[in-house]
Amino acid sequence: MKIYKTKTYKDMSRKAANILSAQVILKPDCVLGLATGSTPIGTYDQLVEWYEKGDLDFSEVKTVNLDEYRGLTRTDDQSYYYFMHSHLFDRVNIRPENTNVPDGMAENPDAECARYEALIQSMGGVDIQLLGIGHNGHIGFNEPGESFAKETHCVNLTERTIEANKRFFATADDVPKQAISMGIKTIMRARKILLIASGEDKADIMAQALLGPVVPEVPASILQMHDDVVVVADEAALSKI
Ligand code: GLP
Repeated sequence: MKIYKTKTYKDMSRKAANILSAQVILKPDCVLGLATGSTPIGTYDQLVEWYEKGDLDFSEVKTVNLDEYRGLTRTDDQSYYYFMHSHLFDRVNIRPENTNVPDGMAENPDAECARYEALIQSMGGVDIQLLGIGHNGHIGFNEPGESFAKETHCVNLTERTIEANKRFFATADDVPKQAISMGIKTIMRARKILLIASGEDKADIMAQALLGPVVPEVPASILQMHDDVVVVADEAALSKI
């Protein structure tokens, strides 16, 4: 595991964008595994800036997102589909047909999970998976206590996650209670993993995830078992390490 400590959120974003863009330059038709949440917004802004300067070309890039809420339509501004389009896809020359987000409106969620998992395999797997981390250690929407052996599956969100994500919704009641998420097994199959974190509120969980025991109660701790993980985090997020 390689850990880059940066001074600020902006430096974290630039370093993470650097690692992702290196992948795009070295392998123009790479498969990027992408994440949502507030942490990667600066990373996506940086990629867009470099694209606008002519330094990056996404025309052959393919993407798969980690997760999606159940029950939100693509036009709902809280859906992860909407997030990805507004923060990245609609701002660069990626082909819409090369981008993939689980369908949170699928009538048969189990079939959608199986379709998504098969899709990732059919694309040849993920070259680099970007991850944020929840306060309880979740990655994607893999909540504490879930088996490390799961592939893409339907998840019941914990109270803590609903609480953390309610800032984006009118009330906590509006936060979806379920999501479709790549499983830990899916995430661990990525050839390279890039974990980003920012802020003091992530310091405790980062210490547990990177230095604590590898246990399902801290889903991100499994990353210690992957042989190509890069962590990019600011000083505040790494202050307890
Ligand atoms: C959400 C997402 C995760 C993300 C996490 C942290 O629940 N499903 O992929 O890493 O929140 O979000 P933030 O970056 O806003 O702290």
